[in-house]
Amino acid sequence: MAGRPRVVTAVVTQPATMVERVRELAALRACLHDVRDGQARVVVLEGAAGVGKTALLREARDHAEAEGFRVLGARMPHLAATAPHELLRRLFGPEVDRLGGPQALTGAAAFAAPLFTPGATAGSGVDYGCQWLLAAIADAGPLLLAVDDVHWADVDSLRILVDALEDLRGAPLGIVATSRPMAADPAVEAMLARLATLPGASVVRPGPLTEAGVAAVLCAAFGEDPHPHFTLACAQASGGNVFYLRELVRPLVAAGLSPTAAAAAELAASGPHALAATVRWRLDQLGPLATALAQAAAVLGDDSPLRVVAALAETGGDPAGRAAAALEAASILGRADPVVFPHPLVRAAVERTVPPGQLGRLHARAARVLLDAAASTAKVARHLLRAPPEGSARVAGLLTEEARRSLDSGSPETAQRLLTRALAEPPAPSARPSVLLALAQADRATGAPARAQEHLVEVMETGPRDLSITAMAELFDLLYELDDQTGVDRLRRRAFEAEPYGISPAEVRLRAELLLDVAAGRADQAPERLTRIDLSSIDIQTGEQRYLLLCVAIHHRATGECPPEEFLGHLRRVVQDLPEGRPLTGWEVTAALESAAFLASAEAMADADEVLERLRPDVARLRRVSPGLQAEWSHRSVLNWLRCGRFEEALVALAEAETFADRHGLTLYQSVANYARGCIALERGDYAGAARHLKSGPAETVFATALGELVAGRPEQALLLLDPPEGDGGAVTEREIEDEVHLLASHAHQMLGHRDLALREAEHELAVRLRHGPSFRLALALRRRASFAPAREAVELLERAMGECAGTPRLPIRARVQASYGAALRRAGRLREARTELASALDLAERLGMNRLSRRVTADIRAAGGRPRRTRVTGWASLTGSQAAVARLAADGHTNREIAESLYVTIKTVETHLAAVYRKLAVPGRDHLRAQISGWAP
Ligand SMILES: Nc1ncnc2c1ncn2[C@@H]1O[C@H](COP(=O)(O)OP(=O)(O)O)[C@@H](O)[C@H]1O
Ligand SMILES: [Mg+2]
Repeated sequence: MAGRPRVVTAVVTQPATMVERVRELAALRACLHDVRDGQARVVVLEGAAGVGKTALLREARDHAEAEGFRVLGARMPHLAATAPHELLRRLFGPEVDRLGGPQALTGAAAFAAPLFTPGATAGSGVDYGCQWLLAAIADAGPLLLAVDDVHWADVDSLRILVDALEDLRGAPLGIVATSRPMAADPAVEAMLARLATLPGASVVRPGPLTEAGVAAVLCAAFGEDPHPHFTLACAQASGGNVFYLRELVRPLVAAGLSPTAAAAAELAASGPHALAATVRWRLDQLGPLATALAQAAAVLGDDSPLRVVAALAETGGDPAGRAAAALEAASILGRADPVVFPHPLVRAAVERTVPPGQLGRLHARAARVLLDAAASTAKVARHLLRAPPEGSARVAGLLTEEARRSLDSGSPETAQRLLTRALAEPPAPSARPSVLLALAQADRATGAPARAQEHLVEVMETGPRDLSITAMAELFDLLYELDDQTGVDRLRRRAFEAEPYGISPAEVRLRAELLLDVAAGRADQAPERLTRIDLSSIDIQTGEQRYLLLCVAIHHRATGECPPEEFLGHLRRVVQDLPEGRPLTGWEVTAALESAAFLASAEAMADADEVLERLRPDVARLRRVSPGLQAEWSHRSVLNWLRCGRFEEALVALAEAETFADRHGLTLYQSVANYARGCIALERGDYAGAARHLKSGPAETVFATALGELVAGRPEQALLLLDPPEGDGGAVTEREIEDEVHLLASHAHQMLGHRDLALREAEHELAVRLRHGPSFRLALALRRRASFAPAREAVELLERAMGECAGTPRLPIRARVQASYGAALRRAGRLREARTELASALDLAERLGMNRLSRRVTADIRAAGGRPRRTRVTGWASLTGSQAAVARLAADGHTNREIAESLYVTIKTVETHLAAVYRKLAVPGRDHLRAQISGWAP
């Protein structure tokens, strides 16, 4: 029957638009299905140009929309990689507009506002803001982010997406991105690799079409079945690449030819060459004006206004309009204004028609044209990066300016590229040091400290005084980080010679560093002038000045010129009146953070807590530009909490801090976290755990390592490490004040059975504390000393210790002192008083979860003839501060995302807190929380 094959043909000639993509489409559907179920997923569609990635992405979008997803899409153009945050700008821009514009962004998401504000400079905090913006958008139901040509995306956007995805694992968020196998930029390549290996990510690689697939596409194009010879020739010439296949047969279809065996001969050479040849041929047909216009469009890229393209092609508006229309008709442009190419391969083919050597010049001209058109520096810089150097001071200046902006917004990779190019221009000799200084900063941030060091040395040697001093201060920091002691010593001598006693921020900073070294006994022969500063004369206008004030105070304390009360006063001044109306500078945060550390150890725990709370948003905002500040902040907070006995909170914050340190390669903080875990284990009486954590604690604090040795049962090693100073009532070292060197040494001697030495160290510790405090340490020293005294004397010493720690927020210390006091009373035969003190110590120990202490106190109570009573650790009163705060917000109807954003923690942290809240309040979930809390909470 004649009709039969036609029916079959009809089925084959009208494939469901996509030929041979059953597997890929199934993978995409499965991904969207998982997302609907509340699981973050990523699919990377990877393959060569023209293989059909964009077409698959479109299918995914259509499917998602049909399923009720919100879809945000962005297509990356070929020069976008050097524009910081360009992908996110494209992806979220329309959504931000829909939400009411950048000014409508609130909370942490507001940090992202400059990105969507025309003309605004993106400062620090864009990354943090974008993560929360994404979280907020994802909060409103299933969301698909569809990114086309992600290999051209900027590394910053990708980093933010990857980090956000790690934190948003339980959100209904899908990302489908198309990518070529290799990105041009290694940093982008590395980030794409991270994206593709996230949990919930998969890579789908659409392959070339088989012969049957080619036949199906041909059938659709010609409207009739192709001859097998024709199909074979097409399959070979195109390699099964759909785009090349279509381009191959386009002229034949246009000429009304049939796909016969004879027509196979009409096919030109294979794939890419065929395209290049066709494009060249088509441009020749259209003439020089159209060619120039097409080339200008190829250089400027998709979405450029025709007016700008015409300016680059040096042609007027009317002829340009006509030429663009002709290019559109010839399928070289997909749209005329703004120009869009039908496919990136066509753009690349047009670009290849530019004679060698001309391309760079075209980019240089493009930069000028864009400058004239008042385009952003970012757009101009993109072209300057590809233009040949011409020794223009202006160009070098533009590149440096844009690089600084990139640095400020946390895009060091881009800054590095721009500055390297600026150096090649080269800049005017007088501008070179400042370029190098910025480059050093970028190098450091991208993990190239050796190159940073090289640049800094050059600036130090050749720059004008102020830059030279800035370089020295930076070098100091860098050499310490590299642990280059000889380098530090050499640099210190040079810095002494430079006499940095002026008022510029750089001099203030360098002087502060030097004073710190002198105070710590790391520098001998410090010039007298360096240390001669009147503390009251130091201003606190800038962060650097605050930092100097702190360092001078530390120095004065070390030399005994500054008694504890006065020291505390200086610390308070360092953090006094931190500006409220604007974001804090990095140095303001640094000075305040360091001060908080000293405040905490000087017993001003409440002040320290207040400072840390105040710094929270600024630290979060600066976390990309200065990840060290965030890590330090977390560390300080964790230490404060653990010292106050808030172990649960400390552990939750630690988990978050460890993830952060891990992500930023801050290895020091990984070991610092171990130290904190060790301390918590120790307080809770888990010696094995304490030993394990402390052993991998911060290698450079001898005290932590010694403590680790001690709890691991190796007192000799502990003593070797501690090397307690002899001391004769004279000078006390900074180390003896900051750490409990003698206290630990006393324990070590006792473990070795050297009672006399143990007693001597105990007396020594007591002497240090009687002079320098702080009172909680005096309490501990008294307690230690009491353990060597006969019962009655011990009671007296411990009575005094109780007084010293009566008001301390360091509850674990109070618990220990009180337990000892009770035990001493018992030994002295004062049983009734002993029972009262011990009961109260037990209550505290149980509430804090100090298990070993609880057991000991329980035994003591029995020995004193009492009956120990267990403390109930449930109900509202058992919630920690953070748990209570989270519980309140959840009961008020806030989502986990909203709670996390307002508290500057991760969603995971909120989930952990909530789980503890449910357990302690014995409620099944957040719906029951409100009723429970209204009964309990004040
Ligand atoms: N499986 C397919 N079947 C039919 N046509 C396809 C298929 N995949 C892609 N195409 C078409 O081939 C051309 C190139 O595909 P595209 O998705 O743009 O490739 P890529 O994004 O990988 O460069 C487009 O016109 C597209 O519609
Ligand atoms: Mg594509």
